[in-house]
Amino acid sequence: MDKVRLGVAGIGNIAKLNITGYLDDPRCDVVALADTRADKVKRMAEEWDVPRTYASLDALLADDEIDAVEILTPTFMHKDHVIAAARAGKHISVQKPMANTVSDCREMLAAVEEAGVTFRVTENCFHYPPLVKARELVAAGAIGTPTMVRIKTVVGHGVSDFQNELEPEGYIWRFNEHSPGGHLFDDMIHKYATACWLVPEAIKSVQAVVRQGPLFFEPMAAFWEYDRDDLLGMMDVEYAPEMTIPGKYWGADEWWEIQGTEGLIWVTRLCAELYRLPPVIHFTKEGERREFDVDADYVASFHNMSRAFVDGLISGTQPDMTGEMAIRALQLCFAVYQASNEKRPVDPSTIDGKVSPPWWPPFKMA
Ligand SMILES: NC(=O)c1ccc[n+]([C@@H]2O[C@H](COP(=O)([O-])OP(=O)(O)OC[C@H]3O[C@@H](n4cnc5c(N)ncnc54)[C@H](O)[C@@H]3O)[C@@H](O)[C@H]2O)c1
Repeated sequence: MDKVRLGVAGIGNIAKLNITGYLDDPRCDVVALADTRADKVKRMAEEWDVPRTYASLDALLADDEIDAVEILTPTFMHKDHVIAAARAGKHISVQKPMANTVSDCREMLAAVEEAGVTFRVTENCFHYPPLVKARELVAAGAIGTPTMVRIKTVVGHGVSDFQNELEPEGYIWRFNEHSPGGHLFDDMIHKYATACWLVPEAIKSVQAVVRQGPLFFEPMAAFWEYDRDDLLGMMDVEYAPEMTIPGKYWGADEWWEIQGTEGLIWVTRLCAELYRLPPVIHFTKEGERREFDVDADYVASFHNMSRAFVDGLISGTQPDMTGEMAIRALQLCFAVYQASNEKRPVDPSTIDGKVSPPWWPPFKMA
């Protein structure tokens, strides 16, 4: 394939970040958009100069002049939409979380394998230049043998136009029975994925305490053991509604720290700009501080993510993130809930379905 003819399904809140990389890539033509909201899909097709619109995913899949689809529909629809796309012979990129249960993910992968199409999960963190740089440094031995992965997230008061312009209906399905969990499922799946990817070693045991916060927020502290005994991981999430989080996107700030026997790396931001530090800092074996000034705008992760899907289709190679990696991230997410629910360590690989916190869902469907 020399050029990818792409259809995009689900033109909601994430579409405008997700699509820019495809629109900018000369190796890709975005030929159609699909959304059940006729007014929205037509408006965005005009704005992005996309020639065709469809009112359903099925109509998009029936278009023979589409090679690949980017699926941006609500997470609870991903299973049906991915299986339908695979059966229609389309290559598939689907937003994280891959699906609501581990068994649904496995069914999706079986359909993909049967159809022989390319499949990847759209995980923008794997294409965020500061995280990519950190991973390269770890792999090159810049910190010796990794011994600890720490990930911190603080959800505060966002002040960006982007956040103010989000469509509230995009949150309804996140807060009710359509989702197995709240913020720890919908957003922290990015962080779980990075925990499995920055240091690519299996996680064998998880302990955690998860609390119920307002709306769908879930303050938590967790730690886990990797297969290698001298490698541990930890994560915390705080909710600080009165604290302003500066930045152009969501009002949440993120921080990664990877410690090794010979050094340490910080990634100081993702979608916000709280710390105002260089995006990647490496403290070396000699005690020196090296800074890396890579592109740290959050939107770069989406650009590079789209490019990676196009690269994979044109070169016939597997783009990140694989379905197997997405399953490991989902198992880690559910292991956190289960460890907290049962007050005991949990092996993520034992989880086949889904796990929710006891108060879930906070809002009932009408
Ligand atoms: N990578 C990230 O940083 C990030 C951020 C936000 C959302 N997401 C993920 O992206 C996905 C979409 O999230 P969102 O916030 O854009 O949700 P949203 O609800 O704002 O958008 C979903 C869109 O899908 C449309 N839709 C529903 N059923 C459809 C169907 N059958 N066919 C075609 N369109 C249909 C809706 O009308 C809506 O426009 C979710 O899986 C979410 O977790 C990822």
